[in-house]
Order: sequence, then structure tokens, then C-alpha cells
Amino acid sequence: MIKIAVLGYGTVGSGVVEVIARNQAELSGSAGEEIKVKYILDSREFPGDPNEDKIVHDFNIIVEDEEIRVVCEAMGGTGDAYLYTRRALEAGKSVCTSNKELVARHGAELMSVARERQCNYMFEASVGGGIPIIRTLAVALSTERIEAVTGILNGTTNYILSQMESEHADYHEALARAQRLGYAERNPEADVKGHDACRKIAILASLVSGRRVDSEKVYTEGIDGIKPEDFAFASKLGMTIKLLAVSRMSENGRLFCMVAPFLLPLTHPLASVCDVFNGVLVRGNMLGDTMFYGRGAGKLPTASAVAADVADCVRNQNRTIMRGWDSETAELYDIKNIESRFFVRCAEEDRNRVREVFCGEDKTEGFSLEGEYGFFTPVMKEEVFGQKRDMLGEAVKGSLRLMSE
Ligand code: HSE
Repeated sequence: MIKIAVLGYGTVGSGVVEVIARNQAELSGSAGEEIKVKYILDSREFPGDPNEDKIVHDFNIIVEDEEIRVVCEAMGGTGDAYLYTRRALEAGKSVCTSNKELVARHGAELMSVARERQCNYMFEASVGGGIPIIRTLAVALSTERIEAVTGILNGTTNYILSQMESEHADYHEALARAQRLGYAERNPEADVKGHDACRKIAILASLVSGRRVDSEKVYTEGIDGIKPEDFAFASKLGMTIKLLAVSRMSENGRLFCMVAPFLLPLTHPLASVCDVFNGVLVRGNMLGDTMFYGRGAGKLPTASAVAADVADCVRNQNRTIMRGWDSETAELYDIKNIESRFFVRCAEEDRNRVREVFCGEDKTEGFSLEGEYGFFTPVMKEEVFGQKRDMLGEAVKGSLRLMSE
């Protein structure tokens, strides 16, 4: 029998305990040994909880107990979670986590400690919740050159955008609904400003490139500037709007990452990923496109991914299986050189001036809708687009990049 500890008895931690209890037979079958939760670390008491006897308040009890082979970190943050993860790995105990912030910031270092101690630092639950995207990229697609990963990686913002589209809600109404349903936090900034999706794409980009992608260097826009007018134009165009996290690798090894809302045609594989669901589209050089879809958040889907990591750690004791990435930070291709087509909205009376600035001789026509005029620009560099937009100031009511592939 293998004994494990769970750090944090909140949503994910209690989910891990529940999945291990309810899927005991499946877990034991997969791991090859019975798995039992011995300790749950939390600063709170849980009187009357069926696992009350497992609660401990001192991490030393866990790290000093030789019976504990695997630790599930579900505390979140980069303070104690980092210290405890490091100490557990140094003691030769594998760690499984859902903590994307910690993986994005210290993943390379923690995986290197795991390698030195011949154990594992696993993080399937950190991206895409229950979608097994980490294992897929690290194992199933390990012989592919991954040219692009494009994902809807944040359930909260996908729900908000879906509500704006289907219910014609404005951003604030849709956010309030997401908060009422428990999808969005009271302080929703990490989700709506794109930071959560940014950390997740940094993890995926690090994994496929083998180099540490610093999430702080990834160009990131959120969805808080999206207006009902954007959806009205999108609908006329036969398109939708999604917050996409994008990572691309060029043939000469140049890596580019960004997070931003994009217009995408309804025929695009990610267009039908709605509500709180996540989707990840992966392009391999031999494989072509393959897509993964599922619940990107929530107690049991996330805990299911942690449990799968626990089984992997038990099957691979004294052997490091996660190849990880270098701690040296990857140089990202500067966004100002990226080329896109943009859809621009302006007031009807400004249409000639605004079109002239963006399109020059290009005669592609746009269309009018409810007192505004919208049109696609020719393909242009971000830097050029930004200069034109700054020059026009308030005349530009909104703009979105087009995701055509
Ligand atoms: N806030 C995240 C989301 C939770 O909405 O996707 C899962 O990482």
C-alpha cells in the first residue's frame, strides 16, 4: 500500500481525497498498488468531516514520514506551496499539483530537484483542468515537432464571452452571472485580464519548446474591453469572439506566445467550445491538427487529473518521467513583428478617415451596423497597426485580431 498526503483541503484538495476514495479500484488498478490518504495539511479544523482524523497542521509530520511517497499540493500560490513542494521533492517524495502559478514560475527548478532525487514533479491539473493535455504533449506527441498550440484555457472568460454572445449580455452583466454561479472570483482580475490563460500557455509553450517561457514576458490582453457591439459585428460576419492563448514555433525555432481576444470563423474548431469548457488545438508537423476538449476547471475534473498523476508517480517510483524544460528563459519573438488582419469598428461619420488610415489603397469594403462602421484591415504588423490606432485616438471604437487558421 502507498500512503500519500494532500496539502490544502479546499476545493481541489477535498476533490483529490474524494476521487481517491470513490475511484479506489480504478486508481489501484492503474497504479498497481492500493493508495491511501494518510494526512491532509490545512491550517483549519474540520469538525465532523469524515477525514477529520487525517488533518495535520505541521508540514514536518508529512516530510519526515518515510511512509509518504507522494504529496498532492493543492494549496495554491507561490509561498508555502513552493517551500513545501521543494522540501518534499528534496526528501525524495513525488509531488502532484494543480498550481499553475507555481509551475509557471518555478517549474524548471522543481523538476530539476525531482530529477536529482529520482522522483517526479507532475502538473497535469495545472492546465485545462481535466483535459489530459500535459501528458499528451509530453508523452503521446513527444515525437512530433509541435508547431502551434492554440487554446481556450480559461473557463471563466469563456463563460462570460458565451453569455455576451448568446444572451446579448454586456460584459458587466455576464461577469456578475459568472460570479453568482461561482465561476468567477469576487476579484476576477486574474481571469478577465488574461493572466490565468497566460500562465497556462507559458506552461504549454515551455513543455513543447523545452525552454522556460516566462509568463511575465507573454503579451497579454483580457476580455474586459469587449463590447456588445463587437459581438453584433461578429455575428454579421458569421464569426465569434474567444480569448485565445497562442504559442507558435517557427521552423527556425523562433517562439511566439500571446493571449488576446480573437475573432474566429464559426468553422474554426475552437469556435464551438462554449461556456466554461476549455479546448486545446495542437498542430504537429507530421500529425497535423488534433484537438482536446473538456472541463477546464471544477473540483472533480481537476482532482481527476491530480489522481492520474498520483498513479503515474506510484508506477514510476525511483524514476523521473517528466522531461520538463531548461531553466534558461526562452527569448520570445517580439509581438510588434507579428502580422495579423484586424477588424476595426468606428463611428459611421469617421468611416472614410479611419478606413483611409488603415487600408490606404485597399478597397475591401466593410459594412454599417447600428451607427457604426466595421471593416477588415489588410495584413499588417502589430507595430504598424498600433501606430495607426494611436494616431486615430478615440475615432477607433474597437478592434480585434482575426484568427484564420
Ligand atoms: N479560473 C480558472 C478558469 C480556473 O476559469 O479556468 C481553472 O484554472
